[in-house]
Amino acid sequence: MKVLVVGGGGREHALAWRLSLDPEVTRVVCAPGNPGISQVAECVAVAATDPDGMLALVKREGIDLTVVGPEAALERGMADLFRAQGHPILGPPKRAAALETSKVFSKHFMAMASIPTARYVVCDTADAALAAVSGDQFGFPVVVKADGLAGGKGVVVAVDRLEAEAAVRTAMVDRAFGAAGATLVIEECLTGPEVSFFVLADGQRAIALGSAEDHKRIFDGDRGPNTGGMGAFAPSPLMTPALETTVMRTIVQPVIDQLHADGGYRGFLYVSLMLTPDGPKVIEFNVRFGDPEAQVVLPLIEGRFAELLLAAAEGRLPAGDVHISEGAAVGVVLASAGYPGRSAAAVPIYGLETPQPAGVMIFHAGTARQAGQLMTAGGRVLTVVAQGPTHASAMERAYAVVSEVQFEGMQFRRDIGSKADDANRRPPTTER
Ligand code: AMP
Ligand code: GLY
Repeated sequence: MKVLVVGGGGREHALAWRLSLDPEVTRVVCAPGNPGISQVAECVAVAATDPDGMLALVKREGIDLTVVGPEAALERGMADLFRAQGHPILGPPKRAAALETSKVFSKHFMAMASIPTARYVVCDTADAALAAVSGDQFGFPVVVKADGLAGGKGVVVAVDRLEAEAAVRTAMVDRAFGAAGATLVIEECLTGPEVSFFVLADGQRAIALGSAEDHKRIFDGDRGPNTGGMGAFAPSPLMTPALETTVMRTIVQPVIDQLHADGGYRGFLYVSLMLTPDGPKVIEFNVRFGDPEAQVVLPLIEGRFAELLLAAAEGRLPAGDVHISEGAAVGVVLASAGYPGRSAAAVPIYGLETPQPAGVMIFHAGTARQAGQLMTAGGRVLTVVAQGPTHASAMERAYAVVSEVQFEGMQFRRDIGSKADDANRRPPTTER
């Protein structure tokens, strides 16, 4: 089987690496890829946001299955184009991508399918939004969300009316997020631990791929500004089998059922959950795998992964579950100086020359090769991922390798994975 992975970050490195382990996979191509991916796949310079270019590549190389990494490709209708031309692709149609790109669409979608989520109102004017954050409707804290994608800055959990009103004005009066903030979702604040849950869907049904917990803040102890993710561990100990059953029944299946008429949801679905005292509720959906979560979830998936993805792309997932390793994986992101603000680039990276021990992978996110030297080329540069029988052992192995990698200004968190064994965190008391 010849497989194409669309994208060029850490998530795509993990996808290409995992697919390359399958005996039935004879070739892995990745577009555009990156220097790390080129160790496990042939990289071709086609942009992830170029559906026509990607289709031409698939025809030229006789690709049997295309696996899409980033949502931008889906938003451009890559899956719709491929499907119309009869080329198997794992990724949902453009219309489904709105689940991720529009919070208004996503909230209305959930309301229509009776999917548990925070109570909300949609506001088209600043006056309406200011009234909605007065405290009468949702109390405090209250959550103010820009409808569109705002580079991770579009959500404010406001502790009081003053902060909420400021968030409304930032989006609607100052237009800090442009058109993305022209409409706001105001919603109730949920409480409980957050868990990411991943499934693979074939248009009719879905199977669980596993859970993870991301670490979004830049500093240890979840302090400092939000980032794209400074590390993750899998699985989440909070995601019990009973909870998983509940999430599949009350959230995942209703999503797939409701999109049935639109060509079907075939692809990865990323469900961001809050485990509230009233049961699991959706914070948001992403129509792709998480990053860095994919880098810790994929190493734990056993068996023939490529075959499974092709089956999903062709609407024929087999009955039964995916085999998931009993162990754990921890991934520590190594980021550039300045990240998540404007970050330094083109700094040489050292310490990757020695081969990694078994069960340790170094996935590349923002790297480039210049005259043979590996350089940084982005905010998140590398992820060191280690597997182990327990989270604690995986964590220890990951940090042992982190200490060997160096580049000027390298930032990383020292506590990725420690939450997994925190006995003070309790799973929710009630489940529906
Ligand atoms: P989002 O961009 O939708 O993932 O939201 C960013 C973060 O804001 C989430 O990871 C949550 O920590 C928080 N958040 C979003 N919605 C809510 C909510 N309704 N209640 C509490 N926290 C929320
Ligand atoms: N880890 C967050 C994301 O993939 O959006």
